[in-house]
Amino acid sequence: MKPDLHYEFQSIFNSTEAPRTFFAPGRINLIGEHTDYNGGHVFPASISFGTYALARKRDDQRLRFYSLNFAHTGIIECDLSDLSNNEVHDWANFPKGMIKFMGESGYAISSGMDILFYGNIPNGAGLSSSASIEMVTGVLLEGLFDLDIERLQMIQLGQQVENNYIGVNSGIMDQFAIGKGKKDHAILLNCQTLDYQYAPIQLNDHVIMIINTNKQRTLAGSKYNERRAQCEQALADLQQELTIESLGDLTNEQFEQHKHLIQDKTNRQRAKHAVYENQRTLEALQQLQQGHVEAFGRLMNESHQSLQLDYEVTGIELDTIAQTAWEQPGVIGARMTGAGFGGCAIAIVEKNQVDNFKDNVNRIYHSKIGYEATFYTAAIGDGARELTEGVL
Ligand code: GLA
Repeated sequence: MKPDLHYEFQSIFNSTEAPRTFFAPGRINLIGEHTDYNGGHVFPASISFGTYALARKRDDQRLRFYSLNFAHTGIIECDLSDLSNNEVHDWANFPKGMIKFMGESGYAISSGMDILFYGNIPNGAGLSSSASIEMVTGVLLEGLFDLDIERLQMIQLGQQVENNYIGVNSGIMDQFAIGKGKKDHAILLNCQTLDYQYAPIQLNDHVIMIINTNKQRTLAGSKYNERRAQCEQALADLQQELTIESLGDLTNEQFEQHKHLIQDKTNRQRAKHAVYENQRTLEALQQLQQGHVEAFGRLMNESHQSLQLDYEVTGIELDTIAQTAWEQPGVIGARMTGAGFGGCAIAIVEKNQVDNFKDNVNRIYHSKIGYEATFYTAAIGDGARELTEGVL
């Protein structure tokens, strides 16, 4: 149950003034994994779990941050004049980075603030808790300082915080899904051109389950940057003969014809995933639009296999969840979602099989891995925004 955030704000910051309330969701990705930084397509959706931020302006230049999720770090303080990344500031570097980058882009942030955060997305579970805190900071700055900022620019600044302030070379998918999310819709995004379209997700008698492996992963410390570098090397090899801007420019057939140009065998595997996954994502949208949910599910399964065998970002926990899910009655498709290396999987499950699904998957998971998985039903909600009275 959500704590009383207004009460918490007033007692933590010793304030009688009512704060304003903002929210940014987390996201799942239905298909199109590790394609964003390869100039391909992704198909994410924002979910109803996310990060709340209650904030008010101060009369001085102090910034005070508090998270109910990290109460042990207490109030973290700094000054608007020094927004450099500071290890001591721990999780508060995410909002600090956003304040810094928005300020440096010419948006006047004229005073300090008190900000209380509360997130109900599991941290480090591949549901983009970090992009969620960046984007909730973006919308709160927009609201408190009355900034006239294009949503796309806010999204791009969020990605820059991740890349140039936190140090993870991630693509644009997470901030985009969170910044532009729409209730009951997924977003097909072309990460090369940033063209996008919404696709209604109506699964009738099915639901999307999120299954947390409860294996923690930290993106910065993971092999994420290494995968990206391997794809860049594969692209550079292909560009010796081909005029392409990204791996997302290739069809599967073109890849097969030219893959010999990629010198390193591992890099060739990585590139194969990026190319095939991009094509799968385009096909998945078509299948969904034609109401072929089963075909969509098969593409999800193929996506997982490719992430397991060619991209090698799954691990025993995610593989156990996906493989066990595939064997259950009423399951249309299942795959890891997000960066991988632990974190969450998703599955499309028939509504009246959900209890059975949870029991069976959890029993097998527990016996193989030694601890339990956690199950959530995903509702697809709107993107980052201010919450008005009554919604909280
Ligand atoms: C993380 C990154 C995204 C994307 C996914 C993998 O979530 O932040 O940009 O690359 O991994 O698809």
